[in-house]
Parts: sequence; structure tokens; C-alpha cells
Amino acid sequence: MTPSDPTFPTRRAARAEAERRATAAIPIPEPEPGRRRSTFEQPAPEAGHSAREERVAEELTGTRGAEQTPTPDPLSRRALREKPRAALGAALGAPLLRRRLAVAVAGVVVVAACAIAVGFAASGGGQDAAGPANAAGPDAVASVQGPPAVPDEGLPVPTLAAAPAAATPCDNPAFTAALAAKDDGAAIAAAGGGAAFRDAVASGIAPCVSLNDPTHQWVVVNKQRPYDPVDWRPDDLVMPDGVRALEQSAMRSSAAKALTTLVRAADDAGAGEIGYLSAFRSYATQQETYAGRVAVGGVAAADRESARAGFSEHQSGLAVDIVPCSGSCGSLDDVAGSSQGAWVREHAWEYGFVIRYVDGQESVSGYEPEAWHLRYIGPELAQAYHDGGYTTLEAFFNLPAAPGY
Ligand code: DAL
Ligand code: ZN
Repeated sequence: MTPSDPTFPTRRAARAEAERRATAAIPIPEPEPGRRRSTFEQPAPEAGHSAREERVAEELTGTRGAEQTPTPDPLSRRALREKPRAALGAALGAPLLRRRLAVAVAGVVVVAACAIAVGFAASGGGQDAAGPANAAGPDAVASVQGPPAVPDEGLPVPTLAAAPAAATPCDNPAFTAALAAKDDGAAIAAAGGGAAFRDAVASGIAPCVSLNDPTHQWVVVNKQRPYDPVDWRPDDLVMPDGVRALEQSAMRSSAAKALTTLVRAADDAGAGEIGYLSAFRSYATQQETYAGRVAVGGVAAADRESARAGFSEHQSGLAVDIVPCSGSCGSLDDVAGSSQGAWVREHAWEYGFVIRYVDGQESVSGYEPEAWHLRYIGPELAQAYHDGGYTTLEAFFNLPAAPGY
């Protein structure tokens, strides 16, 4: 379309009239759901928008030179405050009022923005001047109340409540006294029982408990945890009463008593007689035992079934290799399939023992399963071990796996 077009004047008049009517119905931009838009922000002009629409936009954005200067009409301001849309619709009915109203809207928003900025600064709020501050859109203008009053004593300073320190049995005199007296049962009781003791040790809050100390029933010996000194030996070795011993092999007194009780219980339950082959083995004896296994199957095979000297639980006096007996006694390999073996799997924990090397845990314990190797850890810890479903002492005490030396 050009001015030389003969229909141009007529079409221009029609267009002017259409624009006049359309102006009366210029919509007030509403914020999109979920997005707050500044009063100044207008939709981008689309192709085909009229010059009047663009001029109105310029007025609203204050980019129209001399026409932006008039003082806001107080009537229009009041109308906006009371009935913003009605006032705006009426104001748009007259061009002069429309321009003043646009300027008034801009003025109100500028004042409101300043108030919001002052409020944020005074309250210490607002994370980012370019971020949350822009969230104050048209809806916020009518509700701005100004910054909250600052008390004379200043803004309150938040205080952090001191986190309660984890209770450690090492701060308990009854516990430390029992430790010093080598009374393991009393120490565990003072700690709150087997599970509580285990939890404290496994979580690292009980540094006064050493899992390396072979004088305690909770000592852990494996391929990564040798004795210190390497030839350590207990001083309270006794032969268990009433238990058939195939070798003159003693145990620490607490473990010996527990084995006597276990064997009687198994017999009373009809599981059959339980004897034992080997219990305490000295450092020197373990050297011979291991060397014998190496001679038969080589080092690799020996290391899966026999500990090197200084690394065997037998040296602690707390381990015993049981055998099933019925008249004569069977071998270690007979335990797994025997009634005695079945009973022990179910009840050994009740007497303070655990089966130390079980199927599927070689990568942790370092040894093939040994259904015959019982390890005494005391009734309190054995119950926690059983109840917790543990299958290795390494897992029980949260220690690293020990698959090799
Ligand atoms: N048979 C076990 C691993 C030992 O020799 O101690
Ligand atoms: Zn053994």
C-alpha cells in the first residue's frame, strides 16, 4: 500500500476509526500464571500492529519524549488504587487522560519499586538485586506496606543450638573401670548391651576400645590384623570340663566354660555329642600347622584354609574346631552335614559363639567356609551378631575386608 494508491485515503480513514475503537478496549496486560511480569514489560509488537498501539506502548514505557512529563493526575491515582481496572478503562476513553494515566501508572510503579528496594535493604533480605527484586510485579504494587520496623536493639541474631555430642561409653567411669579390670561382660553392660557396644565401636565413637587387644573377647584377628607381639599368648588357658578333647588343647577360661555349657545343651537337645579337635594353638604350633597345609597343597591353597603364624584366631585361645561324636568322633569335614553342626548353626550364638567363616564370605574373612570353627565373643556380642544378621566380624565391627595378607 502506498500514498499513490487511489483507495489510500479511504482505507486510512477506516483504519483510523478502527484504531479509535480498538484503543478503548486496549487490554491491561495480565501476568502469566507462574510468571510475574513488570508493569513496564509489554508483549513484543507483532507485525500488523497499529501505530497507535505502538504509541500507547511507548507512553507506558516512558519512551515518548515530551509526552511523558505531565504530573500524574491524582484522581487517576486514586481510581487506580481503588478500582484499578475500572479507572484505567475509563481513562482510556479519553486520549489526554489515557496519557496521564500511563504516566501515573509508571510513577506508581517506580515509587513501589523504590519502596521494595528499601525494604529489602533494610531487612537484609533479597538474595540478588537482579533476581528476586524483579519478582515484585503489578500485583505487588497495591500491597506494598514498606519495610518492617527495625527494633532499637537491632535485628535479632540467630543462634545455633549446640549439637549434642554422641554419647561414648569411654566417658562412662563404669565402662572404663570394667575395661581396665578386663571384665568384658561388665563393660558391655555399662555400654548398654551388646548392640550398643557394637554400635559405639563400629561408629568410631569409642576409641578406648581396641579391637586389636587379644585380652578382650572382642579382638578381631585376620590376615590384616596380626597379634602384637606376634607370638602373644593368653595366660588363663584351661581345659573345658566335660568335653571330649581329641588333643590336649586348652581354651581361655571364659571360652572353655561357655563351650562346656554349649556341649551340654546340644546333648540335652538331642543333637548328639560335640567334641573338639583343636582349640588354643601357640605361635609355634601354628607355624607347624600352616607349613603342613603348604606341604600338601601349596601356599595359595593353604592360605584359604589355614592362617599363617601370628594371624590365627586359635592363638587367642577363643577359637575351637569342633567335631561330631557318636561313640567315636568324626572329622572336621563331617560337621556341616551332622545334627551337631545343624544345632550349632542355630544355637551357638546363645552361648557366646559365632561360626567365624561362612559360605560366601571368603572375600571378607579371607578363608573358605569352616562349619567347625567356632569363635567365642561372649553372649552379649554374639546375640547382637545374630540379631543383626552379621556373617563376619569384619562387618560387625565395620572393619575393612581382609581377603589376603
Ligand atoms: N583355619 C583357620 C583359618 C586358622 O588356621 O586359624
Ligand atoms: Zn579353626
